[in-house]
Amino acid sequence: MCGIIGVNGCMAAPVLLDGLKRLEYRGYDSAGVAVLESDGIRTVKCRGRVDALIEKLDRLPPFTGTLGIGHTRWATKGEPSDENAHPHTCGRFSVVHNGILENDGALRDKYLRLCPFSSETDSEVIAQLLNRLYNGDPLQTVAKTADLLAGSFALAVLCADAPDTLFCVRRSSPLLVGLGEDGGLAASDLSAFADRIQTLYRLADGEIAAVHRNSVDFYTFDLSPVDKQPEPFDRVQATAEKGGYEHFMLKEIHETPSAVRRTVQAAGAFDAAAFDKPSRIFITACGSAYHVGEAAKFVWEELLGVPVEVGIASEFRSRTLPLPEGSLVVTVSQSGETADTLAALRESKRQGVPVLSIVNVPHSTIAAESDHVFYTKAGVEVAVATTKAYVAQLAAVYAIGLALAERWQTAPGQRIERLKKELSRLPAAVEEALPCERRMRELAETLPAGEPVFFVGRGQGAAAAMEAALKLKEVSYLPAQSVPAGEMKHGTISLIHAGTPVFAFCLNEALNARMQSNIDELRARGAAVTAVSLTDDIRAQSLLRLPQVPELFAVSVAVIPMQLLSYYAARRLGCDIDKPRNLAKSVTVE
Ligand code: F6R
Repeated sequence: MCGIIGVNGCMAAPVLLDGLKRLEYRGYDSAGVAVLESDGIRTVKCRGRVDALIEKLDRLPPFTGTLGIGHTRWATKGEPSDENAHPHTCGRFSVVHNGILENDGALRDKYLRLCPFSSETDSEVIAQLLNRLYNGDPLQTVAKTADLLAGSFALAVLCADAPDTLFCVRRSSPLLVGLGEDGGLAASDLSAFADRIQTLYRLADGEIAAVHRNSVDFYTFDLSPVDKQPEPFDRVQATAEKGGYEHFMLKEIHETPSAVRRTVQAAGAFDAAAFDKPSRIFITACGSAYHVGEAAKFVWEELLGVPVEVGIASEFRSRTLPLPEGSLVVTVSQSGETADTLAALRESKRQGVPVLSIVNVPHSTIAAESDHVFYTKAGVEVAVATTKAYVAQLAAVYAIGLALAERWQTAPGQRIERLKKELSRLPAAVEEALPCERRMRELAETLPAGEPVFFVGRGQGAAAAMEAALKLKEVSYLPAQSVPAGEMKHGTISLIHAGTPVFAFCLNEALNARMQSNIDELRARGAAVTAVSLTDDIRAQSLLRLPQVPELFAVSVAVIPMQLLSYYAARRLGCDIDKPRNLAKSVTVE
């Protein structure tokens, strides 16, 4: 995680701070900047958010330099503190790092035994190494240092002896370079500088960029020149404002209908002919994107008649999973940068299995490395908790399922046609789910602080329950747990007592009788059950009737009230809704 930015060619400090504010979703434990001033590199950093850094800078003499780097941190090695904040400056060099080194201990032992360290981070090893290996040629020194590092890293480096060059290095962590009127820029993602550049380049793994004011040179780590073409990009898509809403999360929930509409419209570009019918489908992802996989399993097994296995990407990698010949791997990722998902993708490709990825962020690494990409069109999602991108991913799952079912003739043609029509109506159905906002706000008032909330369901309802529980806990910090409804009585029901809030998802007519039994069992033990249902024949304390959609699409409407519930619970409890504690939006460490 962590966000990094660098600039060469205009007053550096305001550009760095503006970029850091936009990158803050990547981590917000500490922040810092380093600028090359007339008397050398000056570094200012502190624990806390970018606003704390801005306050600190306001009390200091202003920066005047035009070459600078900045960082906003999500702590991995070393607690959040002033000392562990980046940039790390040593001798003639200053560096910001996103990623994790795997050989920092070995490098310390081999090269840096006598060097005094001022932080507990792996990243300071890079600054110390640059200083230790410096031979008077900054580019050579950066390349030699990069070659010694193992692990993941995106670096922006300043050298006091190279006042015209910003050095950038990449292996496994994202890094983009752009040129525009403000000069040359580099950042972890496009949103940090989209409105400042005209030309965009994406560094590949194992590449170095020497960024000048009006040009950029690319090299491999052995300094062979790389000929790189600029990439097209969408400036409007890459920037986001709150637009009158108090929080990005609420704004993004309200943007869901348009995110789904754009995604459904883009489905025409999906080329079903590029896929032979696989023997099995493996879906792998993290967090909410993994929950999309859990819902996709039901949709694709029904439409495609292919067994689907869903795995959390970090665990996918913990197994020795021989992927059978003829399989298809599908990854799902909003950011397109999640380290474990990327590693699962690479492992699948190593085994020779084709990978289809559902990705929201263009120019991301997962998109670049996949054999096939379905881009969701959710637009920029700023709030750390995903909302509109999650529903857009579900829409992508439905569109892919229908296109492949048509191609492979695995479902009756009439049914496919009917579902296609329903899919084009899905944005309207999602819109119809939003007016429950007031009710969700009132319901959120009733959730007792510190008391657990349970979410249960069967089939797709179990998948919806998983996402609802994650949403509530991550933004409101209320203990929330999802349990497949039938599993409740195998242990978890012991936690139910008078008044325990339970949300029960009834999304499938064929499973509703069993859901009703589970609801009755919970009510018999005092639980306050709200049924979230496509039909109104479920008996519970209260019923939340969902807009009418085909059962296959039910999760996409069922999750909207739960997102609103989570938002209002977090608001009532005074939580930092867009940036919940300990989290970051793009998880680029394993
Ligand atoms: C939860 C959330 C996370 C992400 C997960 C994967 O609200 O946003 O659980 O879903 O970190 O991220 P992506 O989709 O970027 O791979």
